[in-house]
Formats: sequence, structure tokens, C-alpha cells
Amino acid sequence: MGKRKTAREFVIFVCAGDSCRERKSKKLHKRLVECIAQRKLSGSVRCVRTECMGRCEDGPNIIACPGAIAVCGAKPKTADELLDSLLKSGVAPDPSEL
Ligand code: FES
Repeated sequence: MGKRKTAREFVIFVCAGDSCRERKSKKLHKRLVECIAQRKLSGSVRCVRTECMGRCEDGPNIIACPGAIAVCGAKPKTADELLDSLLKSGVAPDPSEL
């Protein structure tokens, strides 16, 4: 029997393509997973790595669903603020303002 999904499930896709990895997407993913666990949101928020999203020059790239919210250029050190913004407003934050 598979894992049941909650109606409020939020998924954050983090690009793990070569260019984004060079721009610390692996560290960003790790930090987002830590933030989700610290907030005890593992049952409703998932963070998964994906293949190249096709916007390599803007990386590291994230797409959050539902809403297909795209965030380009996020930094691992601002993962907390990024998660807050995505979950509270459902709007893509400007990484330069985090
Ligand atoms: S490597 Fe991330 S968008 Fe291409």
C-alpha cells in the first residue's frame, strides 16, 4: 500500500541538473529538507530533486506546486525565508530580497 497524500500537499521541485548543481542546488535542496523537518511539515510538504528544467542560466531553479511557482537563483542560506514565502503567500519571492 502506497503512502497516502494529504489534500494540502505542497511539493517543491529543486533542479539537480549540472548547471544548477554548480550553483549549489544540492545544498539548497538539503537545507529545504532540513527546514521542512524542523517545522514538522514532512507530512504535507515534500522537496524533491528533478532533472534540468531548461533555464540553466537562471539557476538554481525551483518550481513549487500547486501553482507552479517558479523561483530562480535561490540561495541555500535563505531556504528558511523561501519556504516561509512559498507556504504563506504561495507567491514566488524575489531571491535578491531574501
Ligand atoms: S540545470 Fe537546472 S535548469 Fe538546467
